[in-house]
Amino acid sequence: MAKKHTRFDLQKLKEDGQKAVWITAYDYWTASFAEEAGMDMILVGDSLGMCIYGYSGTVPVTMEQCIYHSEAVRRGAPNTFVIGDMPFLSYQVSVPEAVRNAGRFHKEAGVDAVKLEGGQRVRDQIRAIADGGMLVMGHIGLTPQSSGMQGGFKAQGRTAEAAKDVIDDARAIEAAGAFALLVEAVPPEVCGIIRDTLSIPVYSIGAGWEADGQLMICSDVLGIFQAFTPKFVKKYENLGKKTVEAFQQYAQDARKGDFPQEQHAYKMVEGELEKLKKLL
Ligand code: KIV
Repeated sequence: MAKKHTRFDLQKLKEDGQKAVWITAYDYWTASFAEEAGMDMILVGDSLGMCIYGYSGTVPVTMEQCIYHSEAVRRGAPNTFVIGDMPFLSYQVSVPEAVRNAGRFHKEAGVDAVKLEGGQRVRDQIRAIADGGMLVMGHIGLTPQSSGMQGGFKAQGRTAEAAKDVIDDARAIEAAGAFALLVEAVPPEVCGIIRDTLSIPVYSIGAGWEADGQLMICSDVLGIFQAFTPKFVKKYENLGKKTVEAFQQYAQDARKGDFPQEQHAYKMVEGELEKLKKLL
């Protein structure tokens, strides 16, 4: 079994030009499959709001939900670098609250790092969490928790001026002490500039190939999430369809009496049925 990465291993992957690959997971079994598949990291994303709870966005997600799912992921992937995603209002209100909530992820769920959204406006929170001795990753570009401010779930940094803002955010995150940065939904050229400008690893979700690694949402990769499919998603399976087919087959078998059969039933101890009949 591979050893769990440290931040220095992740840094070395960047320096060696090797891509890190990570995926979200929200539960024990997905985490264990991700570990078995050799993922470099697992994110317990607040996308769990949409993928697990059926919310239309990530804003309703609570600290309790994130901790609960992070604990399950930790148990499923004890040898993988796990990142807890700080939900809306767990770090925006004040710097001390940000530190306390980052600490909860570590104390209660045993994560290896936390991630929070935003650029220059969260530099103080990033600095304080890092000063508190915790690894913190930034997340810029499209930031779903504040997508209302961005005009919806839209690509960012598509004009020179907008791209400059994203790059300034990236610099601020690194200067504040983040160990890595996730860039979401910006053109590959912009992500490439950020990767080449920053010393820390720069990862992409929907920001193209010019990055130190890629993140994907597990429900998208597996074809489970049906509500919408962003442009940057590649579905590697259609487990949603396969799940419906399996459920339909089970229902059909059970209704016809084809399930269960002999091999699915427990046997009575020999001679006990006759004894039972006499008792009745
Ligand atoms: O919550 C999440 O899964 C994320 C990704 C969208 C980057 O933050």
